[in-house]
Amino acid sequence: MSTQPSKMLLTLKLITVGVLLLAFTATAPGQAKFVANYDESKIPEYQLPPILTSQSGQPIESAEQWQNQRRPELLELFTTQVYGRAPKAVAISSKLIRTSMDAANGKAIRREVDVTFGGESGSVTMRLLIYTPKNAIKSPAFLGLNFQGNHSIDPDPSISLSDRWMRNREGITENNRADESSRGVAASRWPAELIVDHGFALVTIYYGDIDPDFDDQFSNGIHGALATEASDIPADEKWGSIAGWAYGLSRALDYLETDSMIDGSRVAVFGHSRLGKTSLWAGANDPRFKMVISNNSGCGGAALSRRAIGETIGRINTSFPHWFCDNYLKYNENENSCPVDQHQLLALIAPRALYVASATGDQWADPKGEFLASTEADAAYRLLGTQGFGSSHPPANMPEADQAIRSGVIGYHLRTGKHDVTTYDWEQYLEFAKRNL
Ligand code: GCU
Repeated sequence: MSTQPSKMLLTLKLITVGVLLLAFTATAPGQAKFVANYDESKIPEYQLPPILTSQSGQPIESAEQWQNQRRPELLELFTTQVYGRAPKAVAISSKLIRTSMDAANGKAIRREVDVTFGGESGSVTMRLLIYTPKNAIKSPAFLGLNFQGNHSIDPDPSISLSDRWMRNREGITENNRADESSRGVAASRWPAELIVDHGFALVTIYYGDIDPDFDDQFSNGIHGALATEASDIPADEKWGSIAGWAYGLSRALDYLETDSMIDGSRVAVFGHSRLGKTSLWAGANDPRFKMVISNNSGCGGAALSRRAIGETIGRINTSFPHWFCDNYLKYNENENSCPVDQHQLLALIAPRALYVASATGDQWADPKGEFLASTEADAAYRLLGTQGFGSSHPPANMPEADQAIRSGVIGYHLRTGKHDVTTYDWEQYLEFAKRNL
């Protein structure tokens, strides 16, 4: 008898807790089901933070003021508020693993080179897959990270199969490891033959060699290897995976500067999607990259965050908490309070060549926001004595689909089709690179 009321009480308590929990998950900021806005008329009111005014309100009117004052302060804001701070550069070592004299339909020499670096807590080895045009002496190069292992970019079975952790993909990758069936699955994104035909080298690295793409509280991959070196970085500024991948790209460039078949002073850093965010951050940080290409990079890449169209800061931080530093969480559903926006990231690449590409079917990445950010960045390019987009003003309207604007130092196109990298995209980059690399 006496147990009956206490059982009821317990049930009641459990129901109350359940209802409270439900109410909390339904209403807590950032927890409610995310519904992306795609309606231009519903974009919140916003004002972009200026490119050519310092944080203290001083106009930036000379190249010198840009280089000594504005550029460093913007770089510092992106470091502390968005991507996180990486430790200083560490020394690398390299080892040639294998060479093929007959790659890309007989037009290229292909090498696999392991580049290792690390710190007191461990080390990282990333494998570079390098195609250089046959008979060239020192080639300018495109350097980019890939999503599915070097073996995925070319079906040739003599390329080593990555044994690293890999995101599962239906019908391609299971148990987080690649197998033979994933050879060449991403070949359409990496047209090595077309690239060497134009006289360029192609260098690619599996991004998981640098940092596996999952949230582990910044402990595996490069974060673990350089943990001691990063130990005095404040917790909210600790580097996320994008900063880690970008750091790896700079170490790859350290190696390329020593490679006798590559011209290390003419390297374009390229990336698609999250790896496009990465190429932009690598290019902003490391002025040795002569050209920077962002393919469909979207939120946290080339798209203006304040438009909050498609993917938003709140959404990206919820889905991918390991990409950015913890300070970035402050701007979830609160883009206007962020001291920077992405047009300023693009400006950090000035006066070096910059190409931003969008796709019509990639509204999640906000093509218009990517275009607008590029036109805003034009001001920094002009201040530094280049012609930016190439005419006397940046374009006022978005170009039609498949009408690339690429006569200046900033290039832009909106390709017909989905979120992807296609031959059309590469054809534009190659033409652009012929003049700018
Ligand atoms: C998701 C993410 C994007 C990212 C993309 C990718 O769609 O929301 O921000 O660019 O993945 O990297 O493939």
